[in-house]
Amino acid sequence: MANSLADDIDDIICDPRTYGDEHRYHEVFAQLRREDPVHWTEPKDYRPFWAVTRHADIMAVELNAANFLNDPRQFLLTIADEEMLLAQTGSRNLARNLVAMDNPDHKAYRALTAAWFGAKSLKSLEDKVAALASETVDKLIATGGTCDFSQDVAAWYPLRTIMLVLGVPPEDEPLMLALSQKLFGNTDAETGGGDGAASMVDAQKAFADYFNKVTDDRRKNPRNDVATILATAEIDGQPIGEAERNAYYMIVAAAGHDTTSSAIAGGLLALLQNPGEMDKLRADPGLMANAADEFVRWTSPVKHFFRTAVSDCEVGGKAIKAGDQLMMCYPSGNRDEAAFAEPFAFRVDRPDAKKHIAFGYGPHLCLGNALAKMEIRMLFSELLARVDDIALAGAPAWVEANFVSGLKRLPISFRAR
Ligand code: HEM
Repeated sequence: MANSLADDIDDIICDPRTYGDEHRYHEVFAQLRREDPVHWTEPKDYRPFWAVTRHADIMAVELNAANFLNDPRQFLLTIADEEMLLAQTGSRNLARNLVAMDNPDHKAYRALTAAWFGAKSLKSLEDKVAALASETVDKLIATGGTCDFSQDVAAWYPLRTIMLVLGVPPEDEPLMLALSQKLFGNTDAETGGGDGAASMVDAQKAFADYFNKVTDDRRKNPRNDVATILATAEIDGQPIGEAERNAYYMIVAAAGHDTTSSAIAGGLLALLQNPGEMDKLRADPGLMANAADEFVRWTSPVKHFFRTAVSDCEVGGKAIKAGDQLMMCYPSGNRDEAAFAEPFAFRVDRPDAKKHIAFGYGPHLCLGNALAKMEIRMLFSELLARVDDIALAGAPAWVEANFVSGLKRLPISFRAR
């Protein structure tokens, strides 16, 4: 079918700069949804794949985990970076973590910590997270009326929360922050060093060194935290391997905060750009839970994950061959006109907000989704109760990275009550 997609659309889909400009991203992906929603993509520097851009198609693929595997490709890496990883680690995957696993391993490894991230366990964390939210707003107020909300506030609070869950001391937070920014913002010269997989491998080695020490400690001094669970974890009566253990720590440490920081900073920007929504939320704090989902839909901090087809099949009317790889474009699915009423309107009371797929879908659904939403609710409840006249004080800027990204600068002014 003829379409009017740009000649270099395949490169645009992968270009980190597309992700550093949210308007551009949504323009490109809205056109794909209209003209070629499951688009065969052959970019210059990456192995080819199908870009799956519609909500229903993404859900169908993710739900069928028997036919669409997570191994061997999880996210976009250039061919050069994949070759480098292969040479250095023997695998094109950065790490054998939950998102790189399929059943039966995925089920067994996920079960190790699932209870920790479930409702009962989160309930017991509520007071501690509320205290962190309050401390975070103290920190904001202490800046005196202007700050970079993204760096000074949003980056720190989810990090503190995940450190609490893991059981890592606060003095190690700057190291964790630097490493996970290196891991995700790796193509942005400002935040990651701009050297792709080399920077990821460095970050991974540093994470492993750090968590090997944590493991030694917890084996001697067990506590009630996720680090102790991972340090002592067994599957079928055997301790889990060092590589799997460190990959697990790393995914919890890294996936657990950059993402949530992006949803928080992007959520505030959306409220500032839609003052009527800010008014609604201030007037009715009961909307906070729905607003948290809308922030996550709106910002979709994880830009994609991949699946690989086991057998020939069809997705969105396209014939997919065994071995073909598919990129689930979450932010695009979350603006799909077929799934959401007026998807480009940001509304804290949107009735269909919970339909978003920013946390993925199916068996790999984000393990930390309830934790992330609790963090968002608690921070915004505290922020709106104690701070007035929040306004943009400069131009916002987004990280240029095609996997996980969000605002890197959000200058604001405000007045403490
Ligand atoms: C707004 C914040 C967050 C977003 C947008 C997000 C997004 C995602 C997405 C899209 C996936 C893949 C799902 C799929 O393939 O279907 C995922 C998986 C995962 N997330 Fe999150 N996440 C967030 C916060 C967190 C937090 C706070 C944690 C804390 C532990 C976390 C830990 C994980 C883990 C461990 C997985 C792998 C699950 C599996 O493969 O079974 N995430 N997340």
